[in-house]
Amino acid sequence: MQTATDDLARLAPRLLAAWRALRGGPPRRGPRPPPDRLAPEELTEVARGVERLSTGLTRDRALAGARYLDDPRLLGAYLLFYWPTSYLQARGVFSELPRAPGAVLDLGSGPAPVALAALHAGAAAAIAADRSPRALAAARALAAELRLPLTTHPWDPTRPGALAQAAGGKTFDAVTFGHVLNELFSGEGAAERRAALLEEAAALLRPGGSLVVIEPALRDTSRALLEVRDLLVARGFAVRAPCLFRGPCPARLRESDWCHAERPIEPPPMVAELARAAGLRREAVKMSYLVLAPRGEPWRAPPAGRVFRVVSEPLPSKGRLRYMACGPEGRLGLALQEKHVTDANRAFEGLLRGDVVELSEVEPRGDGLRLGPETRVTVVAKAGEPLPGV
Ligand SMILES: C[S@@+](CC[C@H](N)C(=O)[O-])C[C@H]1O[C@@H](n2cnc3c(N)ncnc32)[C@H](O)[C@@H]1O
Repeated sequence: MQTATDDLARLAPRLLAAWRALRGGPPRRGPRPPPDRLAPEELTEVARGVERLSTGLTRDRALAGARYLDDPRLLGAYLLFYWPTSYLQARGVFSELPRAPGAVLDLGSGPAPVALAALHAGAAAAIAADRSPRALAAARALAAELRLPLTTHPWDPTRPGALAQAAGGKTFDAVTFGHVLNELFSGEGAAERRAALLEEAAALLRPGGSLVVIEPALRDTSRALLEVRDLLVARGFAVRAPCLFRGPCPARLRESDWCHAERPIEPPPMVAELARAAGLRREAVKMSYLVLAPRGEPWRAPPAGRVFRVVSEPLPSKGRLRYMACGPEGRLGLALQEKHVTDANRAFEGLLRGDVVELSEVEPRGDGLRLGPETRVTVVAKAGEPLPGV
């Protein structure tokens, strides 16, 4: 079966060609570089851009909200390093939707990894909208190379009427925000303004459509997203993924908690090489995300039984294995002692962040539930799969 990773492996040479075009061709010195790998001189150049983006977007955050994609070196580094990650993240979220979106509006698209992921996931057409003309030109060039039906539109939500202009009177099966919400409206009142923007975007959804928000898996950006989630849930929006809990997000109760997804990946060699050169890690895709239904559509009934989504990595300690989990009854710890492992509950040992499980015969213990030899553990959906019955 064709996977998103396979699709990305085939995309890598196109991204590289787009980057070389942006840069004005391959290096002048030395032999002609291969179409799917960076020459050493190119690698050093791109790794420098990746380091600047990484510092500016995830560490000191000095680039958040700045016009960094108008700088060809940073746009180039984005295309070769962050684009593949955003693409895989978006494919991961689309795979959780009950059906592939038909028409997509990708806001804050940059060079459109999310829109192109939607098109590869089966979307019939996509509009990529951003304020960076250079990023939109790169998006158009990539889509033309791949013969994908993508159009672009300038969009800056700080300008009145921007969303209606980008939508051009159309409605959509998905409106997406890939790593852009955290760059909009910083400071006091930011959560309110972000929620208002999402509400405005939700009004463009067709029945059954989805608002898809992907954010970095950083504590602050994730908690900011959870705050926006709570504002929208309080206004009657239903969450399609990842939440099974319908009240205010319990991860917001403690400042040290946040919520993110993690999917192991095998990055294309070019991305792995860049990660090494820039001193970053890329063996997993991490993100915070939210899929919302159009206003007024009800929450979908959770799968039967006591179900939970695993929201932590495995937490082994002194003869027992623990996870944090979140389900219709809230966020709590689940623990199983090694000596109580049986065939019926052995699946607990292999759970990954994002998996949804059904548990029978569990007992309240401390701040969570204790599984015993009589507990049955059934994996209802693996991370990244849609829930059954939706
Ligand atoms: C981190 S990039 C994300 C690009 C792509 N969506 C992705 O998921 O990889 C953030 C994007 O937000 C855009 N952006 C930031 N502030 C913006 C604003 N005020 N108006 C429009 N776009 C903005 C930037 O131009 C950039 O393309």
